[in-house]
Amino acid sequence: MNKPVRKAVLPVAGLGTRFLPATKCMPKEMLPVVDKPLIQYAIEEAEAAGIEKFILITGRGKNLMEDHFDHAFELEQILEQRGKDRELDLVRHFPEPSKIQYTRQQQAMGLGHAVWCAKDFVHDEPFAVLLPDDMVLAERGCLTQMMDAYNHVGGNIVAVTEVPRDQTNRYGILDIEDDDGRLARARGLVEKPAPEDAPSTLSIIGRYILQPEVFDHLDKQIAGAGGEIQLTDAIAATLDSVPFHGLRYEGTRYDCGSKPGFIAANVAYALQRDDMEADVRAALAEILK
Ligand code: G1P
Repeated sequence: MNKPVRKAVLPVAGLGTRFLPATKCMPKEMLPVVDKPLIQYAIEEAEAAGIEKFILITGRGKNLMEDHFDHAFELEQILEQRGKDRELDLVRHFPEPSKIQYTRQQQAMGLGHAVWCAKDFVHDEPFAVLLPDDMVLAERGCLTQMMDAYNHVGGNIVAVTEVPRDQTNRYGILDIEDDDGRLARARGLVEKPAPEDAPSTLSIIGRYILQPEVFDHLDKQIAGAGGEIQLTDAIAATLDSVPFHGLRYEGTRYDCGSKPGFIAANVAYALQRDDMEADVRAALAEILK
């Protein structure tokens, strides 16, 4: 029986320079897709997968996320007085204070370093990592699908998707040993290889289930690709002792760290909504005419 995954780490310290000036005073994780901030989608996906505790790895200027997951007394009072129950439910939905924590990364030293900041929170349990920039529109949440796979194979699991070879230098890429078309067992992984060096085109998206052994490597604080401490390297360092699989999830991934991806996510999520679908479809048809 694999140890249950109860905790999630959400690295949210990035500056979001690609979205300036929108992100001058607002964390990029607060950008809304339709009407909900990216960070809330990630928390809800994790909750749906059975996660009980969250830690956000934040940085300076990221306080708005703590406000978002807290009561807004004046607003709630006004909504209550006006009998706006639906809206009240929307603003009151967040994890209890004992279930969500925040810590600051303090130095921008890479994704591996951000995850390492959660070491004492995670302690010696398996844990999930969700990068809120990556959204997966799916019937069953991406992390839920990964939990199913984890219950079968255990170890470290990442969500993966095929990318065009000329884009391997943007992602962690798997070196595949065995592949049943859904789950690929990997013997290696490389962070952002040049297309000619990439062992495959199967790339990691921002969802991980990891064993605490990754901290043994992260503790060493060794810089990898781009001079940053890479999570990919920490996973690679445990390959001899911890099985490692990539799961081809069902659903569509939107890279909301890029402007076209973010716009596409807004359209795709709006088209899923009964209250908006017809209007958005009509507006799109008009624009594309
Ligand atoms: C990070 C990881 C990379 C992964 C990607 C997914 O890169 O280092 O392995 O493929 O997230 O979004 P970043 O996008 O932070 O450069």
